[in-house]
Amino acid sequence: MSEIAKITLDGETHELPVIVGSENEKAIDISKLRGKTGYVTIDPGFKNTGSTTSAITFLNGEDGILRYRGYPIEQLAEKASFLEVAYLLIYGDLPKKAELDAFENEITRHTMVHEDMKTLLRAFPAGAHPMGVAASLIVSLSTFYPESQDPNRDKEAVDLSIVRLLAKLPTIAAWSHKFSERHPVIYPKNKYNYVENFLNMMFELPTEEYKVDPIVAKALNTLLILHADHEQNCSTSTVRVVGSSQANLYASVGAGISALWGPLHGGANQAVIEMLEAIRKDGGDIDKWIAKAKDKEDPFRLMGFGHRVYKNFDPRATIIKKAADDVLKALGINDPVLDIAKQIEEIALKDEYFVKRGLYPNVDFYSGIIYRAIGIPTEMFTVMFAIGRLPGWIAQWKEMLEDKSPIGRPRQIYTGSAVRNYVEIENR
Ligand code: SDX
Repeated sequence: MSEIAKITLDGETHELPVIVGSENEKAIDISKLRGKTGYVTIDPGFKNTGSTTSAITFLNGEDGILRYRGYPIEQLAEKASFLEVAYLLIYGDLPKKAELDAFENEITRHTMVHEDMKTLLRAFPAGAHPMGVAASLIVSLSTFYPESQDPNRDKEAVDLSIVRLLAKLPTIAAWSHKFSERHPVIYPKNKYNYVENFLNMMFELPTEEYKVDPIVAKALNTLLILHADHEQNCSTSTVRVVGSSQANLYASVGAGISALWGPLHGGANQAVIEMLEAIRKDGGDIDKWIAKAKDKEDPFRLMGFGHRVYKNFDPRATIIKKAADDVLKALGINDPVLDIAKQIEEIALKDEYFVKRGLYPNVDFYSGIIYRAIGIPTEMFTVMFAIGRLPGWIAQWKEMLEDKSPIGRPRQIYTGSAVRNYVEIENR
């Protein structure tokens, strides 16, 4: 017998259905609440509010569980390729060999971008933040493919937009880097796989071949997989809301990139390295900075710490921390900020302020250390997050359309002035 919730308002008791998910998560369905009672609910930041059901990603913040379409992140990070995981998230199952080969081949064939993209890139000032460039150029892709404007076009048209986005974002990212350095761009080469192609476009010089280090390629593949989806986070919710107006996929993803930029979200990976560098330059006095993070009067927060859902360890941070050790050791790099990060984690996890609030390292705390070891510029870190999160944004946008979700339009409670009449300016 399905559960119901009872709520008594103005002396009248109303029954609301309870829905139960496949992992036994429960929700009170309030979709008819206003019609029944005249009341709406309010929940700033949606801390207690589910916006949708979804079959894509399951995470359990108390137990530190993260699964993509049921597969544990630990297994995917260890055994899968990023495009394999992208296919899984978007189409629902791990691809058979022929399916993966076809998917990879399609993406390889679409890695080139229109030469006019260079005109757009040239318009940005030197030193333009690559997230601003990426968001602009991704939305501009819709102008090069006007047929992609209608998200409800036939499956082939949607699949082609999906392939174009996955194929072209790494090229756009690498070219924005080359333009910011005022270096000539490096074209994608079909002999490389997805990760190798990106690394080559980022680091090859016309004067010098770039040799892809398998350790670096494996580390990047792991990082992209770990960032691929994370249920209804800020940027994914943004993609869903923008897409719910029937805006095209490029516009929806461009909005997601903009939301991800914030330092409370994906921008934290850049903020973490800047914070660790500041602590190092300040003499490495960890206790001083931990005290600042705990001081309510001090705006400083421990970037890379805390999470809306994980009130225990973030399983991605556990994997990334180990990968950071392995990559730096393999590359023979001794990065002092890694030691500072480990000291911060050790001290914070024994500190009642952090333990009581369930504040642990999140996905952004160690990822920048690997990006730095690979040679990715700090301002590109959040673009790396966007490249990783792109399959998740696409999968969630596609599910939202397939579920025929209504346009996202929350209600509010008005707290402004009561009605009043216009006053001529001379009488104000
Ligand atoms: C991502 O949602 C996702 O899934 C996101 C993400 C994904 O994959 O998409 O996982 C990626 O965005 C990871 C988070 C990256 N952001 C940061 O590392 C920035 C630093 N973290 C915080 O700003 C904060 O922890 C948030 C934004 C991540 C979560 O904020 P919440 O859930 O709104 O929690 P809160 O701000 O209400 O904090 C609860 C308490 C507060 O103290 P009290 O008012 O209870 O006394 O914890 C404190 C906060 O002051 N707190 C921190 C802190 N984070 C929270 N104190 C010091 N340092 C911090 N980092």
